[in-house]
Amino acid sequence: MDRITKNQLIQDYKKLFFDNFQIKPDIASIAPGRVNIIGEHTDYNLGLAMPIAINKWIVSLLSERSDNKVYIYSVNYNKRISFNLNDLNNSNELWEKYVKSTIHVISKKYNFNNGFNILIGGNIPIGFGMSSSAALEVSIVSAILYKCFNKYDKSKILKICNEVETKILGIKSGMLDQYASIFSIDKNFLLIDFNSITHEYFNSNIKKSSWLLVNSMVSRDLVNSEYNIRVSECKEGLDLVNKSTKKNISLSALTFNDIEVIKNNKKLYNRLLHVYYENQRVKKMKEEILNGNLNNIGELLLESHYSLSKNYEVSCDEIDFIISISKKHPGFIGGRIMGGGFGGCTINLVKDNLKKDFILFVKNQFYNEYKTDIEVEEFSFSDGSHILTNL
Ligand code: GLA
Repeated sequence: MDRITKNQLIQDYKKLFFDNFQIKPDIASIAPGRVNIIGEHTDYNLGLAMPIAINKWIVSLLSERSDNKVYIYSVNYNKRISFNLNDLNNSNELWEKYVKSTIHVISKKYNFNNGFNILIGGNIPIGFGMSSSAALEVSIVSAILYKCFNKYDKSKILKICNEVETKILGIKSGMLDQYASIFSIDKNFLLIDFNSITHEYFNSNIKKSSWLLVNSMVSRDLVNSEYNIRVSECKEGLDLVNKSTKKNISLSALTFNDIEVIKNNKKLYNRLLHVYYENQRVKKMKEEILNGNLNNIGELLLESHYSLSKNYEVSCDEIDFIISISKKHPGFIGGRIMGGGFGGCTINLVKDNLKKDFILFVKNQFYNEYKTDIEVEEFSFSDGSHILTNL
């Protein structure tokens, strides 16, 4: 299990930065990955979600150059790329696409002439729904904006990251991942309303149990998954409802009766039903976490899972299997598929005194069925993104 601290990461990367660029970095920009307690596929439908940053990060170390070149060293891929600021043609590798698109958007918005040396690394598993790509964007955008303008404007960083995803990379995603990476505060639960783009923090009364991620090892990325199709289906369903009811409202404002008018279109009806009930589950989850009612929390998680699997159809066999075997263990309180879907992790609440046994049980059962070793990730919540100077 990866228990590396943020400070260790930064110390290691400082040395690597010097080895690569023969100069000390000016700043370090740290952006965490996230889990999502509940509220899945609600963000781009202007609904509610409850994500939290975790103690896994992408770190970018940066120094300014006197020419207009950008030199990047990726620790995780052990690869170096370089390009001119005004020549940001895209590339085939996904991480390069993210990096170049991010720099492309910032350099178009803000005119700056000097390039950068940037080292990027981190310990967020890639492709498993913990938002490594969002953390990558947040980390680079924050680093460059801070270096050039000495400012850390969270809303601006969020907006730019969203532009990178939707306008350049062509992912029709919402802002869940970046929002959590930027606005989380350690030891607080975060509830975001994507309609008003506002959030609130609240405390948890959950006792004697922990959140765990069970990683199905089925990797996926949003660029190449059916994610965009789900976004379009919701839009199509909403248009149909609005047309029939002569309304002009967002999906999250629809009532149950509104949605009933497209009952004959089973697929679109199911997509909208998921979003409708998922928003309600987010509100209920806040109450249950405040009350520390484990049984009700568990039920909400499982309801969310079945809705994502059956109505929204973003699960896969391996993930459904993990949930079905988890349910057989006495330590399991509840769990569900997390993130964009089509693979990745389940997020689970598990009793502390049975946690070790639960982990062994799930691993063994999965191995017996699929002959694959899966990983279970323990994590703690963490603060949102920030900059360190005086390295
Ligand atoms: C991915 C996207 C988010 C969100 C989730 C599903 O993580 O990046 O914007 O839509 O899927 O809730």
